Amino acid sequence: MTSSTEDHKLAAPVYDPRDQAIIDDPLPALRALQENDPVHWSDKLRGWVITRYDDVRRIQLNEHISADRLTPYYESLPSEQQNRIRELIRYLNTWVAFKDPPEHTRLRRLMNKVFTPGAVRHLHGSVERAVGVLLDGLAGREQFDFIEDFAYPLPATVIMDMLGLPHSDMEPLKDWSNKMQLFIGSATASPNKHALAQEGAVEMAAYFREVILEREHTPGEDMISKLLAIRDADATLSEDEVIGTSILFLFAGHETTTNLLGNGIRALLQHPEQLERLRREPAMIKSAVEEILRFDGPTGALVRIVKHDHELRGRQLSQGDRVFVMVNAANHDPRKFEDPGKFDISRDPNPHLTFNYGPHFCLGAPLARMEGEVAIGEVIRRFPDLRLTADHYEYMDTLVMRGVRSMPVATG
Ligand code: HEM
Repeated sequence: MTSSTEDHKLAAPVYDPRDQAIIDDPLPALRALQENDPVHWSDKLRGWVITRYDDVRRIQLNEHISADRLTPYYESLPSEQQNRIRELIRYLNTWVAFKDPPEHTRLRRLMNKVFTPGAVRHLHGSVERAVGVLLDGLAGREQFDFIEDFAYPLPATVIMDMLGLPHSDMEPLKDWSNKMQLFIGSATASPNKHALAQEGAVEMAAYFREVILEREHTPGEDMISKLLAIRDADATLSEDEVIGTSILFLFAGHETTTNLLGNGIRALLQHPEQLERLRREPAMIKSAVEEILRFDGPTGALVRIVKHDHELRGRQLSQGDRVFVMVNAANHDPRKFEDPGKFDISRDPNPHLTFNYGPHFCLGAPLARMEGEVAIGEVIRRFPDLRLTADHYEYMDTLVMRGVRSMPVATG
């Protein structure tokens, strides 16, 4: 135990999340921290890096920790810069993911009313159809890019169906979300990223405002209509929150699921005996998807802010400090998982934290699981000789997400 936070900050070993070797394979460095410095101060990240399973889980439930990383960031900006992203923040500020109780409790209760088990069951046909259409388009191809041709478009199509949006609107939505992504999840130091992100948000919000007008006249079975019905019955849900939540669904459900599919098929192809087992026993798909989520899940880190000074494992966490909760490291903590480096599709129990834990547990987890089961099951059934053709993968340079940009495969 160090005598003070400052001592500890000086004494900390170097952990450089921008080091290419660590981007490609973060686990060895994170496991070393897990053993030697589980509550690690990183000068590079200007924040705490938490790697043990129990600590990660505890942080999610900790009343001294806030999920609102937006307000402190926004408030730290000079007013002229704040003005430039005011409209972007207007919508991001409605996201349940950035809220603490009691706001979080209110929004989450309303959202639980639309994201019901029945609504997810209702999407099963849409997922099967989208998987079928995409795989039909790949039939006869000797090579394709698993991300670009399948894992990226599939969840986008499913969320469009969920929101009742025509597939022909996919291109502009993709363009606006790419712009917003520059602010939300990108490490890219693009000079005008704030201006572009704001532009994307304004265009996206205008689009959803139009959709809302249509749905007010002609409601359907989609989630926007259901959110509007709740808004009408419960005056606390605002139109901005309906728009913001629709945008949140597009973001939260897209690349996460892309990476579940990409990381999952890659893990199976790299462990042929497990793939064979799954082919022999297709009913194992549920536990196979859980193991994929644990072994190389799409969630890298969650970001939190210390709300009140408190201690964790003898370290002093101070109000305003950032906390990086390393979910993939927790999922490989030998204190919780036997032989964590082993990819075992029959692992049971498998209490991974990839969908988070506690109040912010992923709202879309049942949909993501269902998409994973249908898509991965069908890909391995239709392509018995699928193989990876790259010897190196470019991983996304972001702490919060784990996945590759491209994954070429051959079908024979
Ligand atoms: C494999 C795919 C997915 C993974 C790994 C994943 C993971 C996560 C994680 C880790 C969180 C917590 C974030 C935090 O607390 O900072 C979260 C929250 C959330 N997810 Fe997912 N997600 C996936 C798919 C989806 C889908 C398909 C949807 C819906 C279309 C969705 C909607 C949400 C929402 C609305 C939240 C915010 C919940 C809250 O803050 O109360 N997710 N997800």
